Amino acid sequence: MIKTDKLEKWYGETKVRVHALRGVSLSIVKAEFIAVMGPSGSGKSTLLHMVGALDRSSAGEVWIGGRALSGLSDNELTLLRRSQIGFVFQFFNLLPTLTARENVLLPALLDGVATKEAERRADALLDRVGLSGRGRHRPDELSGGEMQRVAIARALVKEAPLLLADEPTGNLDTTTGRGIFDLLRELKASAGLTIVMVTHDPNAAHHADRVIHLRDGLVENDVRNHKSAGTDAAATGSPVAAG
Ligand SMILES: Nc1ncnc2c1ncn2[C@@H]1O[C@H](COP(=O)(O)OP(=O)(O)OP(=O)(O)O)[C@@H](O)[C@H]1O
Ligand SMILES: [Mg+2]
Repeated sequence: MIKTDKLEKWYGETKVRVHALRGVSLSIVKAEFIAVMGPSGSGKSTLLHMVGALDRSSAGEVWIGGRALSGLSDNELTLLRRSQIGFVFQFFNLLPTLTARENVLLPALLDGVATKEAERRADALLDRVGLSGRGRHRPDELSGGEMQRVAIARALVKEAPLLLADEPTGNLDTTTGRGIFDLLRELKASAGLTIVMVTHDPNAAHHADRVIHLRDGLVENDVRNHKSAGTDAAATGSPVAAG
């Protein structure tokens, strides 16, 4: 599903260059649930942006579904993002003039989903994240945790095969956060959703199949979680079983 090879990203000119990623090589298979952890500034958001085709790498390569991103035009990258990737931004990036429901609807409409179907999905997702009564509110009328949940619903509305989420539970209380984890696990099991989630939540390790630790732009540690439900169960469509 996702592969990176010696992926590097630096920002700025030579003298003030920040080397955010310094050679990250990873393979992530379909329906895997990955937690990315690491200190502030270690390159987590940068990695997500590279894998999400939001920005181009400085060196190395990223493949999504077998396609090398460096070979694609800006237009092709936009189409790939639209059809394949749901993204939850660290700072939400909701459109301030649209209501919560309109924010959620927009990516589905842009991807060509019929209005009725997009509305059905948006309402179901808003309900699922506990915001059915908030659809008509604009972002500035919502709490941080509510905005975050709108951003999660928006990332899922296209039903794209890949979800990239940058600290999607960072503003949520424990119970609400657990509800989001449950939702993502369900989508992994029922739809084979591949999830890469940046998180500081130590409990995330229990929900994910694999935890990747970054430090100073490098993979420090890549650990499979034997306690989480395996990816095989999800891939064959059977119920997620413990162990
Ligand atoms: N657009 C940019 N221009 C210059 N430097 C940047 C830019 N984006 C990120 N950086 C730098 O790259 C490094 C990695 O940043 P990144 O946002 O990936 O960290 P992070 O692991 O997501 O941190 P946090 O946990 O604080 O969100 C940091 O040193 C940061 O200052
Ligand atoms: Mg970040």
